[in-house]
Amino acid sequence: MYITLLTALENGIFTITINRPDKLNALNKQVFADLNKALDEVYANISIRSVLITGSGPKAFVAGADISEFNSLTKTESMALAKAGQDTFFRIENSPKPIIACVNGFALGGGCELAMSCHFRIASDNARFGQPEVNLGLLPGYGGTQRLVQLIGKGRALELLMSAGMIDANTALQYGLINYVVPQEELLAKGKSLLELINTKAPIAVAKCIESANAVFDETKNGYEIEIKAFGDCFDSTDRKEGTAAFLEKRKAVFTGN
Ligand code: COA
Repeated sequence: MYITLLTALENGIFTITINRPDKLNALNKQVFADLNKALDEVYANISIRSVLITGSGPKAFVAGADISEFNSLTKTESMALAKAGQDTFFRIENSPKPIIACVNGFALGGGCELAMSCHFRIASDNARFGQPEVNLGLLPGYGGTQRLVQLIGKGRALELLMSAGMIDANTALQYGLINYVVPQEELLAKGKSLLELINTKAPIAVAKCIESANAVFDETKNGYEIEIKAFGDCFDSTDRKEGTAAFLEKRKAVFTGN
């Protein structure tokens, strides 16, 4: 079904593994086509409760956009490429289902941007993060200049962007770019256990947390108003009634996503 991705659905967790290990999982056109197809599945398939994105092999999450596809592009085509990449990553960021990145090695350029579009990130202890585009006479084009500033602040972000420097997993943790660092062999288990916990919560409420948190960074939206509307939508849901009843009856809530 996918040329450059491996996928698996287990206990409601959809694992997407970018699978071009010989090219350090670089994002070429085919990866983007496959990612968009996988996101169609994420949005449409009610059996998928949450998503984990990782890279194949022990060395790289994703080492960036595929540089070999750059040379033939005109200026207009380069802008279309950036726009298409941004649109794919917006679909990740705005997914109503949680999507996390398990960063298993290099997350450079478009790889760092992909990880940053996820709702949060965890990493193995060999992970390295960076935006080395200035080495190529470029800057990040898939939202990296925006999300890096959002996640680690302007000073740290501009140092990384302008110097093409790389940071290790512990520095990324200290910067708040990632939530946990674990040994590589424990990375997927840690990601899955975080998603298993989230999957026990009310899906509409989880989706509304994502929507409201994303509104912080959208100047066209008033996040406080979105939060009030989301509160009302949750309040009206069957799962809210079940959640409050279960608390009062001292039992575990059983959510249906309604
Ligand atoms: N695009 C296309 N191919 C890439 C790639 C990318 N972003 N990153 C790595 N590759 C390919 C290499 O060309 C090489 O292919 P080959 O074996 O056919 O020559 C293969 O992946 C392995 O990479 P290599 O550079 O040999 O590994 P390394 O361990 O020496 O270095 C990196 C690892 C990540 C430091 C190095 O590959 C690198 O700097 N990659 C580019 C990072 C980048 O600039 N990303 C932003 C792109 S906009």
